[in-house]
Amino acid sequence: MEFEFWHQRWEAGQIGFHMEEVNPFLKRYFAELKLSKGDKVLVPLCGKSVDLVWLWQQGLEVCGVELSPLAVRQFQQEQDLPLVAQPQGAFEFWHLPQESGQETVGLGILCGDFFQLTAEQCREVKAVYDRAALVALPLEMRVQYVAHLQQILPAGTKILLVTMDYDQSLMQGPPFAVSKAEVHHLFSQAYRIEQLAEVNSQRKGHPIKEEVFVIELA
Ligand SMILES: C[S@@+](CC[C@H](N)C(=O)[O-])C[C@H]1O[C@@H](n2cnc3c(N)ncnc32)[C@H](O)[C@@H]1O
Repeated sequence: MEFEFWHQRWEAGQIGFHMEEVNPFLKRYFAELKLSKGDKVLVPLCGKSVDLVWLWQQGLEVCGVELSPLAVRQFQQEQDLPLVAQPQGAFEFWHLPQESGQETVGLGILCGDFFQLTAEQCREVKAVYDRAALVALPLEMRVQYVAHLQQILPAGTKILLVTMDYDQSLMQGPPFAVSKAEVHHLFSQAYRIEQLAEVNSQRKGHPIKEEVFVIELA
């Protein structure tokens, strides 16, 4: 997907992917990430997801990555957060002001291209939450996305991955159909891939399956 595609979606307000409520799969399966307070979670292609705030409220340090400055601005306004911006590598980092005595910023979004994210920026990451990120990308980019995750994340990082599968000939993406077999293929270098849920649902009147995985990187 070209950057322009996403910028236009945000400008036109065509953001059907955005949910007002915290994702139920996140709430149900969050414990599978086995995180401790203060651990850092990366949320790639985060949009203005309310899930960022929910993760932060669990006592985690949360870092989203989002291409669209408009999405970041809307996140700041809608969540009523006093985010401040500073350059960080290829990104502009919008984050809560660091209070004295506090080691981390708690919640922030790196505004820029996920593919520019470096291993140095992910040094402390313990987990990744992917909802509507992998499935937002066409196949060639999904391969690059997973390769990049594996390149920049520390060994042992756990990923909570929410995907959807359906007959791609019936509907256009995004979100694209990603089969269980594809998840296994994309993450074939991972130490562990476990499927946590498979739920039948509907999209535009067609049957789809929502699937949830926990993946542990080698
Ligand atoms: C389908 S939306 C999902 C947003 C969010 N995960 C959610 O659940 O609401 C995909 C998001 O990825 C962003 N995006 C697309 N390509 C990106 C890239 N290369 N780097 C960072 N963000 C990107 C888009 O602007 C869009 O907000």
